[in-house]
Amino acid sequence: MEIIDDNIYIGNVETKELAENYGTPIYVYEEDTIRKNYRKAFKAFSKYYSNFRFFYAIKACNNLAIANILRQEGAGIDAASVNEILAAKKIGLGGEDVMFSGNFLSDADIKAGLDSGVIFNLDDISLLPRVLKQGKPEILSFRINPGYGRSNVGEFVTNAGPNAKFGLHPDQVLDAYKQAKEAGITRFGAHMMPGSCIIDPEYFAFITELLMDIIGKAGQELKINFEFIDLGGGLGIPYSDEEEELDIDEAAKRVANTFSKKVEEYNLASPRLMMEPARYFVGNAGYLIGKVHSIKNAYKKIIGTDIGMNTLARPAMYGSYHHIFVDGKESEKREKVGLCGQLCENTDFWVKDRELPASIAEGDLVVVENAGAYGYAMSYQYNGRLRPAEVLVKDKEHWLIRKREGFKEMILGVSVPEHLDKK
Ligand code: LLP
Repeated sequence: MEIIDDNIYIGNVETKELAENYGTPIYVYEEDTIRKNYRKAFKAFSKYYSNFRFFYAIKACNNLAIANILRQEGAGIDAASVNEILAAKKIGLGGEDVMFSGNFLSDADIKAGLDSGVIFNLDDISLLPRVLKQGKPEILSFRINPGYGRSNVGEFVTNAGPNAKFGLHPDQVLDAYKQAKEAGITRFGAHMMPGSCIIDPEYFAFITELLMDIIGKAGQELKINFEFIDLGGGLGIPYSDEEEELDIDEAAKRVANTFSKKVEEYNLASPRLMMEPARYFVGNAGYLIGKVHSIKNAYKKIIGTDIGMNTLARPAMYGSYHHIFVDGKESEKREKVGLCGQLCENTDFWVKDRELPASIAEGDLVVVENAGAYGYAMSYQYNGRLRPAEVLVKDKEHWLIRKREGFKEMILGVSVPEHLDKK
């Protein structure tokens, strides 16, 4: 994004042009930024450990155009559900290019996972007999909760530690791999995903050491080789000016050093190091453009826009900060105002006491930063305010990559029993 003479450009395209073409609200993604983020991270990790691969956690932004960019860069897909496995298939990725890290899987999920031949990553030891009842995965991994997690999004996305719902307890790990080995499985991996949005490089080395000590011991005792060890996602981005950028090179260096040291200590046969980030690739590449519809001066001055908690859930859900720009007015005098969407809920009043240009007026465009990850993907249709459109920009060109929902989509799949229909 660039601001030239107060006008905001996303991927070299004027915000006004995007709003005129596609309406508001819209999610806009910069292709070049996604590629740049990916390359920066890949360069860092592969420099310090050459047998390295990223899988993109498609849950953060499941538009197939975006997933294709990451596929072209070399990423596999981390899928949380069968539908995400199908999304991967749709872009030509299957088998061992896809990792299935579902949670509390149903028997139908297990069957579909087995049929698709993806890497199975089991979140609990109780899943193993249920999987084995239906078939034998070619390669199997367990998600381990190493007892510690952290997150800059607060408690909400701390995905490991005693209060998390994810992963095996370290004491269960030996037994889990033992049972799998006894069932005739011969190829193994290991996985964890302890938290999201971390900008402290040392944290990544710390959790690597925790995981490696757990699985190193299990590997030695059971004489199994781990083909891959997946450290999960979690690479953070700054949302506010007070937050720093993650020093990705430093994180990669510390992780790779710890990893290599532990590979040697436990005599592991050079496993592939894997990570499955999402936010780091797509977070700062996405913007949400909305329009000011009216300005209210009752108890407080409130800017009413078409961006609500249904369009971007993070602020109402986690209290997350997203910076907001006002097109054409960025250099103007500021005052503290509130900003909200159009829903009949007060949590939709998602920005309070924010310094925004005092001259903000009806018809102005607002641009929300860092909306590429967990933005559209977590949007919903409450109050009949439907999901926005998604647009990709690159080199002054732009493409609609998902059309705006309309009434047809709102009632899609709904049926009314005859005795209720217009009677
Ligand atoms: N792998 C697994 C198994 C995951 O569950 C996640 C995210 C990732 C990878 C990618 O994590 P990342 O690199 O983006 O940190 N909705 C929250 C974030 C929830 C994260 C869920 N898991 C937010 O808006 O901040």
